[in-house]
Amino acid sequence: MIRSIGNITGALFIAGLGLLAHASPARAADPSGLADAVLVADFEAETYGDWTVTGKAFGPAPALGALPGQMAVEGFLGKRLVNSFTGGDASTGTLTSRSFKIERKAINFLIGGGKSLDGTFIELIVDGKSVRRSTGPNDSPGGSERLAWKSWDVREFVGKMGTVRIVDDRKGGWGHINVDHIVQSDDKLEPEPVRRELIATARYLLLPVKNGAPKQRMTLTLDGKIIREFEIELAEGPGDFQVFADLGAYQGKTIVAATDSGRRKDALAGLVFSETLPNADGLYKEACRPQFHFTSRRGWLNDPNGLVFHKGKYHLFYQHNPYGREWGNMHWGHAISDDLVRWKELPVSVYPYKFGDWAFSGSAISLDGDIIAAFTSTGRGECLLRSKDEGLTWTEFPGNPAVKHEGRDPKLVWHEPTKQWIMALYDEYQNKRMIAFHGSADLRTWKFLSRIDGFFECPDLFEAEVQGEPGARRWVLYAADGKYVIGQFDGKDFHAEPGKHQLWFGNFYAAQTYANVPDGRHIQIGWANGMKYPGMPFNQQMTVATELTLRKTPDGIRMFGTPVKEIASLRGSATSVSAQTITRDHHIGIEGVWDDVFELNLSLKPGEGSVGNLKVRGLPIQYDAAKRTLQCGTVSAPLEPVDGKISLKILVDRASVEVFANDGRVAMSVGFTPAAKDRSVELSASKGSIDVSDIKVYELRSIWTR
Ligand code: FRU
Repeated sequence: MIRSIGNITGALFIAGLGLLAHASPARAADPSGLADAVLVADFEAETYGDWTVTGKAFGPAPALGALPGQMAVEGFLGKRLVNSFTGGDASTGTLTSRSFKIERKAINFLIGGGKSLDGTFIELIVDGKSVRRSTGPNDSPGGSERLAWKSWDVREFVGKMGTVRIVDDRKGGWGHINVDHIVQSDDKLEPEPVRRELIATARYLLLPVKNGAPKQRMTLTLDGKIIREFEIELAEGPGDFQVFADLGAYQGKTIVAATDSGRRKDALAGLVFSETLPNADGLYKEACRPQFHFTSRRGWLNDPNGLVFHKGKYHLFYQHNPYGREWGNMHWGHAISDDLVRWKELPVSVYPYKFGDWAFSGSAISLDGDIIAAFTSTGRGECLLRSKDEGLTWTEFPGNPAVKHEGRDPKLVWHEPTKQWIMALYDEYQNKRMIAFHGSADLRTWKFLSRIDGFFECPDLFEAEVQGEPGARRWVLYAADGKYVIGQFDGKDFHAEPGKHQLWFGNFYAAQTYANVPDGRHIQIGWANGMKYPGMPFNQQMTVATELTLRKTPDGIRMFGTPVKEIASLRGSATSVSAQTITRDHHIGIEGVWDDVFELNLSLKPGEGSVGNLKVRGLPIQYDAAKRTLQCGTVSAPLEPVDGKISLKILVDRASVEVFANDGRVAMSVGFTPAAKDRSVELSASKGSIDVSDIKVYELRSIWTR
């Protein structure tokens, strides 16, 4: 039976009555799952009830999750919790329960926030003395706002009266505490560490994942030394898919796997060694696996990193969580390609320095036979690495961190006139979002050069010739949203010409251009963020590789982006359709031989005031001649006809389309979830008439070489 000893719950659990439990069996169990629960407080009401509040930190009532300026707060029960972030970390205060009888062997509660035994804590007071005390888990930048169960063993106090006091007496970083659901029970909810010895009998350790399961912190230890440490939504029972840790270097060794928060004694029973990857036979054949966009075999990816051509291969490193479908555990994943189209995924390349000191974004160059990478080590600063084996393993530069500042995402670029390396960085200087430039002649000693305001994350910088203006060159500078400025970079300052321009629209972020491309092309890959892959063991994709050029237009110099010419090597059979005029009464369905991924080219000559509609596997794409906008799904971009025409190249994959309009004046990356069987392409006009010509569809082959 569940009883309440405070009045916080209000009507839900009424001491001794059990009436509601009878009337509403769905509510019978304490949400913690304990059968013998004696609730101290669930903090679900709109006031603190009979708790005594001092100071400002706890606000007027339990909080509805995160407070302004706070990271997402997770892991609490119900709608509300105690959160002392009211007014940020600087505020202080206390929250004290009324006295209650200790009648079970344990007091359980959820706790998160700062880890300070005299600054951010919860304590139990018995006979005027503090007899138990616990803190949140965080004492350094980064960390997590996730609450976890703690349990006090209070057997020695059973029968006595106790008081719980929650204290926030800390003003600096992590100067807050989160608490929820304080409940007495003879059972402890605090997970016991679970460990299991495993002999590495094969290369891959497969680990089962259950999407949405509580995250557990897991370590793999060899001879007392941690060799892997990560968070994982470990399946304790049937999972959704398996991830893997590559332990090829530890064959025959005894590895101890341990989790700090397994809920069951056999929590690690699902770990198995395998010579092959999880679902090796089905890999790249999954129903929603993009067929010509890079995705990782398992887990999450975001920004492309370290794009460099080195010893005949294009390298694609990327932000990667090898252990789950969501962002976290940041490593650098790694893939290589001969042609920027067909990718082969290699083992994880850059491991975090330690748990919580993640390998965030950065870049790479090819120099004297080595790859040199610059990346953000979140605990240290901007660091440089050298690889002598094509990015498989790395050694740290002696002077790491090379640059320390508030910011991230170093991009290395050679500046020939001043014979120095430039490191363009995202710099949170005086709380402004800026790009900073640092310079070095030897990649070892770095000197601050200048800053430019108005850019957020993942800078990129390159110089290109201006097509159609012999001898003219310009520098391009952009950050994660892809919006770029054109100007001159003199080795110290970036002199921007007026205006910020946009090439890419839609699902596009944190793009980067390749270093050391032998034919001098400017080749860009972006993170096509936010597409959907229902039920898949991977998440997120890259855009196709595009070639960037600067061209003169009536509006000034603009950057154009078109798929690299190598993409044409994926083309299979072609279907051409004769030119025709579409009107309200004349719709056409284009038919031919292609499977679910294909390339569609066509040219529109829109009549005055006309609206042309294209439907590709059900996704609407529209050109409105009056508004002069191109729309694809919910993404729209301004687009002027050139010589009265709009040309479209549309790359259709299983989770996305990319639209390149007017030879790359506008590029769009748009996520959609087509019906698996839908291969349709339809053309119609909802206003006026449109001449459609040069209609050509190519089937596209899969890029996956295995
Ligand atoms: C951009 C970004 C970078 C950071 C990385 C972390 O998407 O936030 O600024 O380095 O992702 O994964």
